[in-house]
Amino acid sequence: MQRFSQSPTDPAFVQNPYPFYDRARAGGEFFWWDEYDMACAVSHSAVHAVLRNRKMGRECPPELAPDIPKALQPFYDVEAHSMLELEPPKHTRLRSLVLRAFTSRTIAALAPDITQLCHDLIDKFPSEPFDLLTAYAQPVPVVVISRLLGVPEDRSDDLLRWSNAMVSMYQARRTPEIEAAAIAATNDFTAFMRGYINERRKSPTDDLISTLIAAEEDGEKLSEDELITTCILLLNAGHEATVHTLGNGVKTLLERNIREITDPCVEEIIRFDPPLHMFTRWVYEDVTIGEQSFKRGDQIACLLGAGNRDPLAYDTPNTFDPTRKGPQNTSFGGGIHFCVGAPLARLELRIALETLFERCPNLKLTEEPQYGDVFHFHGLERLMVTM
Ligand code: HEM
Repeated sequence: MQRFSQSPTDPAFVQNPYPFYDRARAGGEFFWWDEYDMACAVSHSAVHAVLRNRKMGRECPPELAPDIPKALQPFYDVEAHSMLELEPPKHTRLRSLVLRAFTSRTIAALAPDITQLCHDLIDKFPSEPFDLLTAYAQPVPVVVISRLLGVPEDRSDDLLRWSNAMVSMYQARRTPEIEAAAIAATNDFTAFMRGYINERRKSPTDDLISTLIAAEEDGEKLSEDELITTCILLLNAGHEATVHTLGNGVKTLLERNIREITDPCVEEIIRFDPPLHMFTRWVYEDVTIGEQSFKRGDQIACLLGAGNRDPLAYDTPNTFDPTRKGPQNTSFGGGIHFCVGAPLARLELRIALETLFERCPNLKLTEEPQYGDVFHFHGLERLMVTM
């Protein structure tokens, strides 16, 4: 495996990580990333193979589980029930309970409501230059997931704040301040959810929280802690990635003067510049993938944004082609952890983009957009536009 050195906090890399991926991929399907001290899957086929391999998973092998400082315990207590951090049989149980509440019918039925929400937000756009992220890309997914769960919309700002603080725990440059903010947000979010779930227990409605409370798999229900974590996971995962896919997508379209939104165009947006670039797997049993051997306890990073730009999977992968046909992109992951929210995200993106360009045919950038200074979330700091 070739070694490469690249600081994940180098501003030029954070703004455009794709040339580094191309260099690393030219050296083989896997490379060793010095700064992370980890093997990385960089080709489309290697990313796909690692995500689907059942000898690997998200849950840390018990003998390697790190000691958690007491102060950070609340965050990890919540994570302990997260399907994203678990493997079968716990993962299967949690995921199937959620999937029962998250049916394709429930999702499709949201379309008129999402369309109306987009129109309402566009009605409020100012005539002077404004940030499309805060005016549109953020509220669309936050309000949709809040409504779906049944969480009051006037708490959207709190949810956004808590969620941002918690997600910061995954960044390369974690400071004691970031940790303290994440713990405070975890405590507030948990307390809010606990109260809210109790209200719904007493008076169920047709929202997702009531459905989750009622959902049962082989006689087993979600415990209160599992319910809280699942709602937090859905709220966090349910908007962060969609906000940035929408932001990155509008940037890409405006830079190329593309305004016609079709399903292949939405899929190309998801492939071309996804918000989540790195997800790791632990190796549970010695295994060989392609020419590379791994041992129990190894960690492998799957570079989703790199798999999407592999020339063996896509012709001219660094070109945005809204009519592209090709293999399924890696932006939603793969295998048993494949994104639960992919159908909802696709629906939101399609409606939000279509409505935006229908209503604002002259939308244009007023400054060159910059990506936020964090590798784990490849999303814009702001997206200044004018109508
Ligand atoms: C464009 C938007 C989105 C992107 C790019 C995205 C991406 C991902 C990725 C890459 C994973 C898998 C991580 C892994 O394999 O380690 C994942 C898992 C997950 N996503 Fe999404 N996601 C998006 C939107 C959503 C939405 C809208 C929801 C919920 C409403 C959601 C809920 C989840 C959940 C619950 C999981 C964990 C699944 C499991 O562990 O079985 N995501 N997402």
